[in-house]
Amino acid sequence: MKQFAVFGNPIAHSQSPAIHHAFARQFDIDLLYRKILVSEGKFAAFASSFFERGAGANVTVPFKGDALQFADKLSNDAKLAGAVNTLTRRHGMIVGDNTDGVGLVRDIRDNHKQIFRAKNLLIIGAGGASRGVILPIARQHPQSITLVNRTPEKAMQLAKWFLPYVAIKPCTFAELNTPFDIIINATSSSLSGQPLPLCRNVVGDNTFAYDMMYAAQPTAFMQFAEKHGAKVADGLGMLVEQAAESFEIWHAIKPQTREVIAMIRAEL
Ligand code: ATR
Repeated sequence: MKQFAVFGNPIAHSQSPAIHHAFARQFDIDLLYRKILVSEGKFAAFASSFFERGAGANVTVPFKGDALQFADKLSNDAKLAGAVNTLTRRHGMIVGDNTDGVGLVRDIRDNHKQIFRAKNLLIIGAGGASRGVILPIARQHPQSITLVNRTPEKAMQLAKWFLPYVAIKPCTFAELNTPFDIIINATSSSLSGQPLPLCRNVVGDNTFAYDMMYAAQPTAFMQFAEKHGAKVADGLGMLVEQAAESFEIWHAIKPQTREVIAMIRAEL
């Protein structure tokens, strides 16, 4: 039986095994997908041992950078994201991919029926989460991408990093006072329940606001956006879509996601 795993710390609440087993049932694929709790500084040792037999692994917080170092070969998305969330053993080599951005785009575009082309986008946050999704978003040809961050220098640095590939306008929260078509919260602010210092004018009549985090209840960012008239969504669909993209890399077949999203939602 082919073996897969997700590496992280913490990992107890990971939904990845349930998602991959649900995908596998769609095609009668027999596989084992387990959670592996990795202690700090031990990623390479755990991954080497797993890949003696393992076929593929997902990697989550805080090891996406370690996975980038561990891979023998990297996809373009992984290189620019500076992070790997999918490792695959192929022809004796370990290949690193990043499926987070494709997962985000598929959820917003296909599940929530939003069009990126020619739209004005606001991305909030300049940490690993936003860096991981910028390139796939840019491939959808939005009109503009504005990047705002609490620490403005980090937004400037990220805009500079992507400059050869994508034009990103870095800015401060205080500078934002006009509406955006799509707003993506890529900060970890929802974990603490803290509201973002956003001016209500960023939300217009047709704004779609997306939080990359998910929880049983709408996040503070979603509540703010909805109050001012936006259509809102959380990142649970992204979680399932990034898993679907990993599944496709490993099994060369595209799983259905709709029912799996509903299944995970019901368990929140
Ligand atoms: P990672 O790289 O793992 O995603 P990170 O580098 O800590 O984590 O990035 C988290 C992001 O959330 C950052 O953009 C952070 O803003 P700063 O760069 O100013 O720290 C943002 N963030 C976290 N909590 C926030 C809050 N309460 N308000 C605004 N931004 C917040």
